[in-house]
Amino acid sequence: MFNDFKLIEGRPVYIQLKEYLKKHITNGNLPANHKLPSTRELSALLSLSRNTVLTAYAELEQEELIYALKGKGHFVSMVDIARGSSPENIYWNEKMNAAAISAEEMDLMKHGVKWEKGMISFNSIAPDEELFDMTNVKRSFMARMSIEGEILLNYGYAKGYRPLMEYLKNYMEVKGVDLTDKDILITNGFTEGLDIFLSSIHRKYSSVLCENPTHYSAIKLFRLHGFHITGIEMQEDGVNLQRLEKELGQNKFDFAYFIPSYHNPTGIVTSSEKRMEIIRLMAAHHIPIVEDGFNEELRYSGSHVAPLAAFEGLGNSVVYIGSFSKILFPGLRVGWILADKELIYYLESIKRARTIHTSTLDQALLYQYLHDGYFEKYLKKAKMVYKKKYEAAIQACRQYLPYKKLSGDGGLHLFIEFEDSINTRSLLTKCLEKGIVFSPGDVFYTNGQGGNTLRLGFSRLTEKQIKTGIKQIGEILKKSEGLNK
Ligand SMILES: Cc1ncc(COP(=O)(O)O)c(C=O)c1O
Repeated sequence: MFNDFKLIEGRPVYIQLKEYLKKHITNGNLPANHKLPSTRELSALLSLSRNTVLTAYAELEQEELIYALKGKGHFVSMVDIARGSSPENIYWNEKMNAAAISAEEMDLMKHGVKWEKGMISFNSIAPDEELFDMTNVKRSFMARMSIEGEILLNYGYAKGYRPLMEYLKNYMEVKGVDLTDKDILITNGFTEGLDIFLSSIHRKYSSVLCENPTHYSAIKLFRLHGFHITGIEMQEDGVNLQRLEKELGQNKFDFAYFIPSYHNPTGIVTSSEKRMEIIRLMAAHHIPIVEDGFNEELRYSGSHVAPLAAFEGLGNSVVYIGSFSKILFPGLRVGWILADKELIYYLESIKRARTIHTSTLDQALLYQYLHDGYFEKYLKKAKMVYKKKYEAAIQACRQYLPYKKLSGDGGLHLFIEFEDSINTRSLLTKCLEKGIVFSPGDVFYTNGQGGNTLRLGFSRLTEKQIKTGIKQIGEILKKSEGLNK
Protein backbone atom coordinates (compact mmCIF):
# COMPACT_ATOMS: atom_id res chain seq x y z
CA MET A 1 0.00 0.00 0.00
CA PHE A 2 1.07 3.58 -0.73
CA ASN A 3 3.83 2.52 -3.12
CA ASP A 4 1.51 3.07 -6.10
CA PHE A 5 0.87 6.70 -5.17
CA LYS A 6 1.96 8.77 -8.17
CA LEU A 7 1.76 12.51 -8.50
CA ILE A 8 0.29 14.31 -11.50
CA GLU A 9 2.04 17.58 -12.20
CA GLY A 10 0.11 20.80 -11.70
CA ARG A 11 -2.76 19.40 -9.55
CA PRO A 12 -2.75 20.34 -5.83
CA VAL A 13 -1.00 17.53 -3.98
CA TYR A 14 -3.39 17.42 -1.00
CA ILE A 15 -6.29 16.72 -3.43
CA GLN A 16 -4.33 13.92 -5.03
CA LEU A 17 -3.56 12.37 -1.66
CA LYS A 18 -7.16 12.75 -0.54
CA GLU A 19 -8.43 11.07 -3.72
CA TYR A 20 -5.88 8.28 -3.39
CA LEU A 21 -6.98 7.50 0.15
CA LYS A 22 -10.65 7.88 -0.73
CA LYS A 23 -10.27 5.38 -3.58
CA HIS A 24 -8.73 2.83 -1.22
CA ILE A 25 -11.47 3.40 1.35
CA THR A 26 -14.36 3.14 -1.12
CA ASN A 27 -13.00 0.05 -2.81
CA GLY A 28 -12.46 -1.68 0.52
CA ASN A 29 -8.66 -1.83 0.51
CA LEU A 30 -8.69 0.25 3.67
CA PRO A 31 -11.34 -1.42 5.85
CA ALA A 32 -13.43 0.20 8.58
CA ASN A 33 -11.53 1.05 11.77
CA HIS A 34 -8.19 0.49 10.07
CA LYS A 35 -5.60 2.81 11.54
CA LEU A 36 -4.03 5.20 9.05
CA PRO A 37 -0.34 6.14 9.31
CA SER A 38 0.27 9.22 11.37
CA THR A 39 0.63 12.44 9.42
CA ARG A 40 4.35 12.45 10.20
CA GLU A 41 4.79 8.83 9.00
CA LEU A 42 2.82 9.35 5.80
CA SER A 43 4.58 12.58 4.91
CA ALA A 44 7.95 10.82 5.32
CA LEU A 45 6.76 7.75 3.39
CA LEU A 46 5.47 9.72 0.41
CA SER A 47 7.96 12.60 0.61
CA LEU A 48 5.18 15.12 1.05
CA SER A 49 4.94 18.05 3.42
CA ARG A 50 3.17 17.35 6.68
CA ASN A 51 0.75 20.14 5.95
CA THR A 52 -0.32 18.37 2.77
CA VAL A 53 -1.15 15.20 4.71
CA LEU A 54 -2.90 17.20 7.44
CA THR A 55 -5.10 18.96 4.87
CA ALA A 56 -5.94 15.70 3.10
CA TYR A 57 -6.87 14.03 6.41
CA ALA A 58 -8.95 17.06 7.44
CA GLU A 59 -10.94 16.90 4.21
CA LEU A 60 -11.50 13.16 4.53
CA GLU A 61 -12.67 13.73 8.09
CA GLN A 62 -15.08 16.38 6.88
CA GLU A 63 -16.53 13.90 4.41
CA GLU A 64 -16.76 11.39 7.30
CA LEU A 65 -14.59 8.91 5.48
CA ILE A 66 -12.17 8.85 8.39
CA TYR A 67 -12.36 9.81 12.07
CA ALA A 68 -9.78 10.96 14.61
CA LEU A 69 -9.38 9.62 18.13
CA LYS A 70 -7.63 11.96 20.45
CA GLY A 71 -4.11 10.77 21.13
CA LYS A 72 -4.56 7.67 18.99
CA GLY A 73 -4.60 8.93 15.41
CA HIS A 74 -6.85 8.60 12.37
CA PHE A 75 -9.05 5.62 11.50
CA VAL A 76 -11.18 4.59 8.54
CA SER A 77 -14.93 5.13 9.06
CA MET A 78 -17.66 2.60 8.39
CA VAL A 79 -18.42 3.28 4.74
CA ASP A 80 -21.04 1.68 2.52
CA ILE A 81 -18.98 0.30 -0.26
CA ALA A 82 -19.82 -1.41 -3.51
CA ARG A 83 -18.59 -4.84 -2.49
CA GLY A 84 -21.50 -6.64 -4.12
CA SER A 85 -21.62 -10.36 -3.40
CA SER A 86 -22.90 -11.23 -6.88
CA PRO A 87 -21.90 -8.50 -9.30
CA GLU A 88 -24.50 -7.88 -11.98
CA ASN A 89 -23.15 -8.54 -15.46
CA ILE A 90 -25.34 -7.17 -18.20
CA TYR A 91 -24.64 -8.11 -21.82
CA TRP A 92 -25.08 -4.61 -23.21
CA ASN A 93 -24.66 -5.71 -26.80
CA GLU A 94 -27.91 -7.68 -26.40
CA LYS A 95 -29.67 -4.57 -25.17
CA MET A 96 -28.81 -2.34 -28.09
CA ASN A 97 -31.62 -1.15 -30.35
CA ALA A 98 -31.55 -1.22 -34.15
CA ALA A 99 -30.29 2.38 -34.39
CA ALA A 100 -27.30 1.71 -32.12
CA ILE A 101 -26.41 -1.45 -34.01
CA SER A 102 -26.62 0.24 -37.33
CA ALA A 103 -24.69 3.33 -36.10
CA GLU A 104 -21.89 1.01 -35.00
CA GLU A 105 -21.92 -0.84 -38.31
CA MET A 106 -21.70 2.42 -40.27
CA ASP A 107 -18.99 3.90 -38.02
CA LEU A 108 -16.00 4.36 -40.29
CA MET A 109 -13.86 5.59 -37.40
CA LYS A 110 -14.18 2.07 -36.02
CA HIS A 111 -14.30 0.05 -39.21
CA GLY A 112 -12.35 2.18 -41.68
CA VAL A 113 -8.60 2.38 -42.19
CA LYS A 114 -6.78 3.60 -39.10
CA TRP A 115 -4.37 6.49 -39.45
CA GLU A 116 -0.83 5.77 -38.36
CA LYS A 117 2.04 8.16 -37.89
CA GLY A 118 4.02 8.75 -41.05
CA MET A 119 1.14 7.89 -43.39
CA ILE A 120 0.07 10.20 -46.18
CA SER A 121 -3.64 10.33 -45.53
CA PHE A 122 -6.04 11.76 -48.10
CA ASN A 123 -8.91 10.71 -45.84
CA SER A 124 -9.47 13.91 -43.94
CA ILE A 125 -11.27 17.00 -45.19
CA ALA A 126 -10.84 18.78 -41.86
CA PRO A 127 -9.13 22.18 -41.91
CA ASP A 128 -5.37 22.44 -41.54
CA GLU A 129 -4.87 23.46 -37.91
CA GLU A 130 -1.53 25.03 -38.77
CA LEU A 131 -3.57 27.84 -40.32
CA PHE A 132 -5.50 28.67 -37.15
CA ASP A 133 -4.59 32.15 -35.93
CA MET A 134 -4.40 31.37 -32.26
CA THR A 135 -3.50 34.94 -31.27
CA ASN A 136 -6.84 36.28 -32.47
CA VAL A 137 -8.76 33.28 -31.13
CA LYS A 138 -7.30 33.95 -27.68
CA ARG A 139 -7.94 37.67 -28.06
CA SER A 140 -11.59 37.03 -28.95
CA PHE A 141 -12.01 34.67 -26.03
CA MET A 142 -10.52 37.10 -23.52
CA ALA A 143 -12.49 40.02 -24.95
CA ARG A 144 -15.84 38.24 -24.71
CA MET A 145 -15.10 36.77 -21.31
CA SER A 146 -14.26 40.18 -19.93
CA ILE A 147 -17.50 41.63 -21.31
CA GLU A 148 -19.89 38.98 -19.98
CA GLY A 149 -18.02 35.92 -18.74
CA GLU A 150 -20.54 35.25 -15.96
CA ILE A 151 -23.43 35.19 -18.39
CA LEU A 152 -21.59 32.89 -20.78
CA LEU A 153 -20.99 30.35 -18.04
CA ASN A 154 -24.64 30.12 -17.05
CA TYR A 155 -27.47 28.48 -19.01
CA GLY A 156 -28.24 30.20 -22.29
CA TYR A 157 -31.15 30.17 -24.75
CA ALA A 158 -32.03 27.04 -26.71
CA LYS A 159 -32.23 29.06 -29.91
CA GLY A 160 -28.72 30.33 -29.46
CA TYR A 161 -26.54 33.17 -28.29
CA ARG A 162 -28.30 36.31 -29.44
CA PRO A 163 -25.33 38.31 -30.80
CA LEU A 164 -24.28 35.29 -32.89
CA MET A 165 -27.84 34.76 -34.15
CA GLU A 166 -27.99 38.39 -35.27
CA TYR A 167 -24.56 38.13 -36.88
CA LEU A 168 -25.57 35.01 -38.81
CA LYS A 169 -28.84 36.49 -39.98
CA ASN A 170 -26.91 39.37 -41.47
CA TYR A 171 -24.35 36.91 -42.89
CA MET A 172 -27.18 35.09 -44.68
CA GLU A 173 -28.71 38.33 -45.89
CA VAL A 174 -25.38 39.28 -47.41
CA LYS A 175 -25.53 35.96 -49.28
CA GLY A 176 -28.79 37.13 -50.80
CA VAL A 177 -31.29 35.36 -48.55
CA ASP A 178 -34.58 37.13 -47.85
CA LEU A 179 -35.16 36.96 -44.11
CA THR A 180 -38.88 37.72 -44.19
CA ASP A 181 -40.62 35.24 -41.87
CA LYS A 182 -37.36 33.34 -41.36
CA ASP A 183 -35.71 32.52 -38.09
CA ILE A 184 -32.50 30.92 -36.91
CA LEU A 185 -31.49 28.14 -34.54
CA ILE A 186 -27.90 27.54 -33.44
CA THR A 187 -26.84 23.89 -33.44
CA ASN A 188 -23.80 21.77 -32.66
CA GLY A 189 -22.55 21.94 -36.21
CA PHE A 190 -24.30 20.85 -39.39
CA THR A 191 -24.65 17.28 -38.17
CA GLU A 192 -26.82 18.13 -35.19
CA GLY A 193 -28.84 20.52 -37.34
CA LEU A 194 -29.68 17.71 -39.73
CA ASP A 195 -30.40 15.32 -36.87
CA ILE A 196 -32.80 17.80 -35.26
CA PHE A 197 -34.57 18.33 -38.58
CA LEU A 198 -34.86 14.57 -39.15
CA SER A 199 -36.23 14.11 -35.64
CA SER A 200 -38.93 16.66 -36.32
CA ILE A 201 -40.21 16.01 -39.81
CA HIS A 202 -43.28 13.85 -40.26
CA ARG A 203 -42.29 10.63 -42.03
CA LYS A 204 -45.21 10.30 -44.34
CA TYR A 205 -43.26 8.44 -47.02
CA SER A 206 -40.06 7.70 -45.04
CA SER A 207 -38.22 8.72 -48.15
CA VAL A 208 -35.52 11.25 -48.95
CA LEU A 209 -34.19 12.41 -52.30
CA CYS A 210 -30.56 13.48 -52.62
CA GLU A 211 -27.55 13.67 -54.89
CA ASN A 212 -25.67 10.43 -55.56
CA PRO A 213 -23.00 10.23 -54.23
CA THR A 214 -23.51 12.34 -51.12
CA HIS A 215 -22.16 13.23 -47.67
CA TYR A 216 -21.62 10.02 -45.69
CA SER A 217 -22.74 11.51 -42.35
CA ALA A 218 -26.04 12.49 -43.98
CA ILE A 219 -26.49 8.95 -45.35
CA LYS A 220 -25.87 7.56 -41.86
CA LEU A 221 -28.42 9.90 -40.28
CA PHE A 222 -31.04 9.20 -42.95
CA ARG A 223 -30.64 5.48 -42.28
CA LEU A 224 -30.68 5.86 -38.52
CA HIS A 225 -33.93 7.82 -38.79
CA GLY A 226 -35.43 5.14 -40.99
CA PHE A 227 -35.50 7.00 -44.32
CA HIS A 228 -35.25 5.22 -47.61
CA ILE A 229 -32.68 7.07 -49.73
CA THR A 230 -33.07 7.78 -53.43
CA GLY A 231 -29.91 9.20 -54.99
CA ILE A 232 -29.82 11.10 -58.28
CA GLU A 233 -26.61 10.93 -60.29
CA MET A 234 -24.35 13.98 -60.46
CA GLN A 235 -23.26 15.73 -63.61
CA GLU A 236 -20.49 18.29 -64.03
CA ASP A 237 -22.80 21.16 -63.07
CA GLY A 238 -24.94 19.46 -60.44
CA VAL A 239 -27.61 16.84 -60.21
CA ASN A 240 -29.07 15.31 -63.40
CA LEU A 241 -32.33 17.23 -63.76
CA GLN A 242 -33.99 14.77 -66.14
CA ARG A 243 -33.48 11.96 -63.64
CA LEU A 244 -34.64 14.21 -60.84
CA GLU A 245 -37.81 15.12 -62.67
CA LYS A 246 -38.49 11.50 -63.56
CA GLU A 247 -38.04 10.41 -59.95
CA LEU A 248 -40.34 13.17 -58.74
CA GLY A 249 -42.96 12.01 -61.20
CA GLN A 250 -42.79 8.42 -60.00
CA ASN A 251 -42.26 8.58 -56.24
CA LYS A 252 -43.11 10.59 -53.16
CA PHE A 253 -40.56 12.13 -50.82
CA ASP A 254 -40.68 13.81 -47.43
CA PHE A 255 -37.83 16.14 -48.33
CA ALA A 256 -34.73 16.50 -50.49
CA TYR A 257 -31.14 17.10 -49.45
CA PHE A 258 -28.67 19.04 -51.61
CA ILE A 259 -25.08 20.21 -51.20
CA PRO A 260 -24.95 22.83 -53.97
CA SER A 261 -21.47 24.20 -53.25
CA TYR A 262 -18.29 22.08 -53.22
CA HIS A 263 -20.44 19.04 -52.88
CA ASN A 264 -19.05 16.25 -50.74
CA PRO A 265 -17.63 14.02 -52.18
CA THR A 266 -17.55 15.27 -55.79
CA GLY A 267 -16.50 18.88 -55.09
CA ILE A 268 -18.98 20.03 -57.76
CA VAL A 269 -20.62 23.46 -57.59
CA THR A 270 -24.19 23.34 -58.89
CA SER A 271 -24.71 25.98 -61.58
CA SER A 272 -27.10 28.90 -61.07
CA GLU A 273 -29.39 27.54 -63.78
CA LYS A 274 -29.64 24.18 -62.07
CA ARG A 275 -30.21 25.82 -58.70
CA MET A 276 -33.14 27.71 -60.12
CA GLU A 277 -34.51 24.59 -61.73
CA ILE A 278 -34.15 22.58 -58.51
CA ILE A 279 -36.16 25.23 -56.66
CA ARG A 280 -38.81 25.20 -59.38
CA LEU A 281 -39.11 21.40 -59.49
CA MET A 282 -39.25 20.95 -55.75
CA ALA A 283 -41.85 23.69 -55.40
CA ALA A 284 -43.96 22.05 -58.10
CA HIS A 285 -43.95 18.84 -56.04
CA HIS A 286 -44.22 20.60 -52.64
CA ILE A 287 -41.04 19.04 -51.35
CA PRO A 288 -38.98 20.87 -48.72
CA ILE A 289 -35.24 21.17 -49.41
CA VAL A 290 -32.51 20.79 -46.85
CA GLU A 291 -29.60 22.82 -48.18
CA ASP A 292 -26.15 21.97 -46.82
CA GLY A 293 -24.11 25.18 -47.01
CA PHE A 294 -21.01 23.85 -45.28
CA ASN A 295 -18.26 24.86 -47.69
CA GLU A 296 -19.58 27.88 -49.55
CA GLU A 297 -16.69 30.18 -48.79
CA LEU A 298 -13.95 27.97 -50.19
CA ARG A 299 -14.11 29.38 -53.69
CA TYR A 300 -10.77 29.80 -55.41
CA SER A 301 -11.97 30.96 -58.79
CA GLY A 302 -15.22 31.60 -60.66
CA SER A 303 -18.04 33.87 -59.57
CA HIS A 304 -20.20 33.77 -56.50
CA VAL A 305 -23.20 31.47 -56.71
CA ALA A 306 -26.04 32.24 -54.33
CA PRO A 307 -27.40 29.49 -52.06
CA LEU A 308 -30.71 27.79 -52.87
CA ALA A 309 -32.12 29.68 -49.88
CA ALA A 310 -31.48 32.91 -51.82
CA PHE A 311 -32.92 31.53 -55.06
CA GLU A 312 -36.24 30.81 -53.43
CA GLY A 313 -36.77 34.48 -52.56
CA LEU A 314 -39.85 34.81 -50.38
CA GLY A 315 -40.56 31.08 -50.42
CA ASN A 316 -40.25 29.08 -47.20
CA SER A 317 -39.33 25.58 -48.38
CA VAL A 318 -35.54 25.74 -48.03
CA VAL A 319 -34.07 24.70 -44.71
CA TYR A 320 -30.54 26.05 -44.87
CA ILE A 321 -28.07 24.34 -42.54
CA GLY A 322 -24.74 26.13 -42.23
CA SER A 323 -21.51 25.32 -40.46
CA PHE A 324 -18.10 26.84 -39.78
CA SER A 325 -16.47 23.42 -39.52
CA LYS A 326 -14.51 23.64 -42.76
CA ILE A 327 -13.99 27.37 -43.06
CA LEU A 328 -13.08 27.92 -39.40
CA PHE A 329 -12.88 25.63 -36.38
CA PRO A 330 -14.74 22.28 -36.28
CA GLY A 331 -13.80 21.88 -32.62
CA LEU A 332 -16.22 24.67 -31.72
CA ARG A 333 -19.17 22.62 -33.00
CA VAL A 334 -21.26 25.58 -34.04
CA GLY A 335 -23.69 25.47 -36.93
CA TRP A 336 -27.09 26.97 -37.65
CA ILE A 337 -30.43 26.37 -39.29
CA LEU A 338 -32.02 29.26 -41.12
CA ALA A 339 -35.58 28.43 -42.10
CA ASP A 340 -39.22 29.33 -41.87
CA LYS A 341 -40.20 30.83 -38.49
CA GLU A 342 -42.76 28.16 -37.77
CA LEU A 343 -40.35 25.32 -38.43
CA ILE A 344 -37.70 26.91 -36.20
CA TYR A 345 -40.34 27.25 -33.49
CA TYR A 346 -40.65 23.46 -33.36
CA LEU A 347 -36.95 22.72 -33.91
CA GLU A 348 -36.15 24.95 -30.95
CA SER A 349 -38.21 22.69 -28.70
CA ILE A 350 -36.48 19.57 -30.01
CA LYS A 351 -33.12 21.25 -29.43
CA ARG A 352 -34.09 22.19 -25.89
CA ALA A 353 -35.32 18.68 -25.14
CA ARG A 354 -32.18 17.11 -26.56
CA THR A 355 -29.23 19.23 -25.46
CA ILE A 356 -30.74 22.38 -23.88
CA HIS A 357 -28.50 24.56 -26.03
CA THR A 358 -25.18 24.70 -27.85
CA SER A 359 -22.27 25.74 -25.61
CA THR A 360 -22.60 29.48 -25.10
CA LEU A 361 -18.86 29.72 -24.61
CA ASP A 362 -18.26 28.29 -28.09
CA GLN A 363 -20.88 30.56 -29.63
CA ALA A 364 -19.58 33.67 -27.88
CA LEU A 365 -15.97 33.02 -28.86
CA LEU A 366 -17.02 32.46 -32.45
CA TYR A 367 -19.19 35.58 -32.40
CA GLN A 368 -16.38 37.82 -31.15
CA TYR A 369 -13.96 36.35 -33.69
CA LEU A 370 -16.44 36.98 -36.51
CA HIS A 371 -17.49 40.39 -35.23
CA ASP A 372 -13.92 41.67 -34.97
CA GLY A 373 -13.23 40.84 -38.60
CA TYR A 374 -10.66 38.12 -37.93
CA PHE A 375 -12.70 35.64 -39.99
CA GLU A 376 -12.27 37.64 -43.19
CA LYS A 377 -8.51 37.89 -42.62
CA TYR A 378 -8.23 34.21 -41.79
CA LEU A 379 -10.30 33.21 -44.79
CA LYS A 380 -8.07 35.20 -47.13
CA LYS A 381 -5.00 33.42 -45.80
CA ALA A 382 -6.66 29.99 -45.68
CA LYS A 383 -7.95 30.29 -49.23
CA MET A 384 -4.50 31.21 -50.48
CA VAL A 385 -2.98 28.14 -48.84
CA TYR A 386 -5.81 25.77 -49.85
CA LYS A 387 -5.79 27.05 -53.41
CA LYS A 388 -2.12 26.06 -53.73
CA LYS A 389 -2.84 22.62 -52.31
CA TYR A 390 -5.86 22.29 -54.59
CA GLU A 391 -3.78 23.19 -57.64
CA ALA A 392 -1.01 20.84 -56.56
CA ALA A 393 -3.55 18.02 -56.18
CA ILE A 394 -5.15 18.66 -59.58
CA GLN A 395 -1.76 18.89 -61.26
CA ALA A 396 -0.57 15.64 -59.65
CA CYS A 397 -3.79 13.82 -60.60
CA ARG A 398 -3.44 14.95 -64.21
CA GLN A 399 0.18 13.86 -64.27
CA TYR A 400 0.00 10.54 -62.45
CA LEU A 401 -3.53 9.13 -62.36
CA PRO A 402 -5.23 7.39 -65.30
CA TYR A 403 -8.67 8.66 -64.29
CA LYS A 404 -11.82 8.76 -66.36
CA LYS A 405 -13.29 11.76 -64.54
CA LEU A 406 -11.88 14.24 -62.08
CA SER A 407 -14.10 16.69 -60.24
CA GLY A 408 -13.64 19.40 -57.61
CA ASP A 409 -14.38 23.04 -58.30
CA GLY A 410 -12.79 24.21 -55.04
CA GLY A 411 -13.08 23.18 -51.40
CA LEU A 412 -10.82 20.72 -49.67
CA HIS A 413 -11.09 17.56 -51.75
CA LEU A 414 -11.15 16.08 -55.25
CA PHE A 415 -13.19 13.15 -56.50
CA ILE A 416 -11.90 10.67 -59.01
CA GLU A 417 -13.63 8.12 -61.15
CA PHE A 418 -11.62 5.39 -62.86
CA GLU A 419 -12.59 2.85 -65.49
CA ASP A 420 -14.97 0.18 -64.16
CA SER A 421 -12.15 -2.38 -64.08
CA ILE A 422 -10.45 -0.53 -61.22
CA ASN A 423 -11.65 -1.34 -57.75
CA THR A 424 -10.57 1.38 -55.35
CA ARG A 425 -10.94 -0.86 -52.29
CA SER A 426 -8.30 -3.23 -53.71
CA LEU A 427 -6.25 -0.18 -54.63
CA LEU A 428 -6.53 1.07 -51.06
CA THR A 429 -5.25 -2.23 -49.69
CA LYS A 430 -2.18 -1.94 -51.89
CA CYS A 431 -1.69 1.74 -51.10
CA LEU A 432 -1.96 1.03 -47.39
CA GLU A 433 1.15 -1.16 -47.64
CA LYS A 434 3.00 1.94 -48.84
CA GLY A 435 1.49 4.16 -46.16
CA ILE A 436 -0.99 5.98 -48.40
CA VAL A 437 -4.69 6.15 -47.59
CA PHE A 438 -7.77 7.73 -49.19
CA SER A 439 -11.53 7.36 -48.94
CA PRO A 440 -12.90 4.69 -51.27
CA GLY A 441 -15.83 6.35 -53.05
CA ASP A 442 -18.43 3.61 -52.59
CA VAL A 443 -19.25 4.75 -49.04
CA PHE A 444 -20.72 7.95 -50.43
CA TYR A 445 -23.09 6.19 -52.81
CA THR A 446 -26.68 5.63 -51.86
CA ASN A 447 -26.98 2.45 -53.92
CA GLY A 448 -23.71 0.55 -53.48
CA GLN A 449 -22.14 1.94 -56.67
CA GLY A 450 -18.88 3.88 -56.93
CA GLY A 451 -16.51 0.92 -56.56
CA ASN A 452 -14.27 2.63 -59.13
CA THR A 453 -14.17 6.01 -57.36
CA LEU A 454 -12.22 7.66 -54.59
CA ARG A 455 -12.09 10.94 -52.68
CA LEU A 456 -8.81 12.74 -52.06
CA GLY A 457 -8.87 15.19 -49.15
CA PHE A 458 -5.81 17.42 -49.35
CA SER A 459 -6.38 20.09 -46.70
CA ARG A 460 -4.04 18.72 -44.06
CA LEU A 461 -1.21 17.61 -46.33
CA THR A 462 1.72 19.63 -47.61
CA GLU A 463 2.06 20.22 -51.34
CA LYS A 464 4.98 17.81 -51.30
CA GLN A 465 2.94 15.09 -49.57
CA ILE A 466 0.11 15.65 -52.03
CA LYS A 467 2.41 15.16 -54.98
CA THR A 468 4.26 12.18 -53.47
CA GLY A 469 1.04 10.50 -52.38
CA ILE A 470 -0.77 10.87 -55.70
CA LYS A 471 2.33 9.79 -57.62
CA GLN A 472 2.52 6.64 -55.51
CA ILE A 473 -1.17 5.87 -56.05
CA GLY A 474 -0.53 6.22 -59.79
CA GLU A 475 2.47 3.89 -59.68
CA ILE A 476 0.59 1.29 -57.66
CA LEU A 477 -2.26 1.50 -60.14
CA LYS A 478 0.06 0.98 -63.08
CA LYS A 479 1.55 -2.10 -61.49
CA SER A 480 -1.80 -3.51 -60.50
CA GLU A 481 -3.59 -6.08 -62.62
CA GLY A 482 -6.70 -3.99 -63.06
CA LEU A 483 -4.89 -1.62 -65.35
CA ASN A 484 -2.88 -4.13 -67.28
CA LYS A 485 -5.91 -6.05 -68.40
C1 LIG B 1 -21.30 17.86 -46.77
C2 LIG B 1 -20.90 18.30 -45.39
N1 LIG B 1 -21.74 19.04 -44.68
C3 LIG B 1 -21.42 19.47 -43.45
C4 LIG B 1 -20.21 19.16 -42.87
C5 LIG B 1 -19.87 19.71 -41.54
O1 LIG B 1 -20.46 19.06 -40.49
P1 LIG B 1 -20.30 19.61 -39.01
O2 LIG B 1 -20.69 21.05 -39.03
O3 LIG B 1 -21.23 18.81 -38.19
O4 LIG B 1 -18.87 19.45 -38.60
C6 LIG B 1 -19.31 18.36 -43.57
C7 LIG B 1 -18.05 17.95 -42.97
O5 LIG B 1 -17.29 17.20 -43.51
C8 LIG B 1 -19.66 17.92 -44.87
O6 LIG B 1 -18.83 17.18 -45.59
